Amino acid sequence: MKKKILVTGGCGFIGSHTITLLLKIGFQIVVIDSNINSSIKVLDKIKFIAGKYENNPVDNLNFYKGDLRDFNFLDSVFKKENQKDEQIIFVIHFAGLKSVSDSNNLPINYWDNNIFGTINLIKIMEKYNCRSIIFSSSATVYDSKEISIFKEIDSTYPLNPYGNTKLAIEKMLKDVFESSSSKWKIACLRYFNPVGAHRSGLLGEDPKGTPNNIFPILNNVAAGCEKKFKVFGGDWETEDGTCIRDYIHVLDLAEGHLKILEHLLNGPAKFLIMNIGTGKGTSVLQLIKTFEEVNDLKIPFIITKRRKGDRGVIIADNKLSKEMLNWVPKMTLQDMCRDAWKWKKLNPKGY
Ligand code: WQD
Repeated sequence: MKKKILVTGGCGFIGSHTITLLLKIGFQIVVIDSNINSSIKVLDKIKFIAGKYENNPVDNLNFYKGDLRDFNFLDSVFKKENQKDEQIIFVIHFAGLKSVSDSNNLPINYWDNNIFGTINLIKIMEKYNCRSIIFSSSATVYDSKEISIFKEIDSTYPLNPYGNTKLAIEKMLKDVFESSSSKWKIACLRYFNPVGAHRSGLLGEDPKGTPNNIFPILNNVAAGCEKKFKVFGGDWETEDGTCIRDYIHVLDLAEGHLKILEHLLNGPAKFLIMNIGTGKGTSVLQLIKTFEEVNDLKIPFIITKRRKGDRGVIIADNKLSKEMLNWVPKMTLQDMCRDAWKWKKLNPKGY
């Protein structure tokens, strides 16, 4: 009996990589995606990758295009899927707008899309007696004024609407859990900096519009689409004066989801918050140097002023994920740089 999991935002960067692992393990996957910030072409790539698995799980992937804010659409998906062989017993909730800068310009869009969509999702899950969920949260929720290596118990104080919506959803899920704590299994995963791409080069980070995150921009400079890479600030209180982040390979992140999924499926009702990071920090200049060395190319750059909202050092204390899941990320910064550039070379215009 293949357990059936709903993945919201499954056409996105982290969702698509996670689905390739879930199919390999033998889960049935239902994907809901509005494709507001993703390409439907991802599904064919996932099927191509899955087609190489010995269990050939290509038929275990069903897709529904729609918006979580459409209650009737969401209801129809659960109704239709639950009338088939297996019920949806678990949700991995990736769907959400995720640009820090866009959220500063369009806060209402972020509150509407991220919060309202999740409220509908929880209501429908309760209606269909599905009470297990992994929520994709973010390190952006932390109050990063005083410290730089973050524990899950550290104070939260988001600096932008995107982070505010992530924290609000965490609090909402905690309230849902408290209301019937014997029934719900909930994990809020706080990602640090997911980067890289699938080893095959078939899946990668392909933001619509102007990229904000560092790897798509590095790729654009490496490919000659942009002349110079702008290093946001050379006067931070770090060894080389540039920001430090905890970059984690998206395939490690996907595996982390599998580990927490198995932990929740096999364990009692619980609510938990968990950092997903490597515990290692890399500065922007160190990253540029690694990217150049691994891919044998040059990244011309200039150091400009700091970007609004940035903080100097953001690194995960990942003890909880190590201890509770007996899991540590394995991929190196070199793997991240190599896989990201391979994706760009094979997909110069994205999907
Ligand atoms: C990384 C570092 C920049 C671009 C955000 C969200 C987080 C998550 C990841 C969603 C920073 C520097 C970047 C450039 C640069 N989002 N940089 N020049 O800001 O750490 O985190 O994205 O899941 O929730 O907060 O990521 O990739 O934008 O920047 O110097 O052109 O690279 O200053 O230090 P960030 P990022």
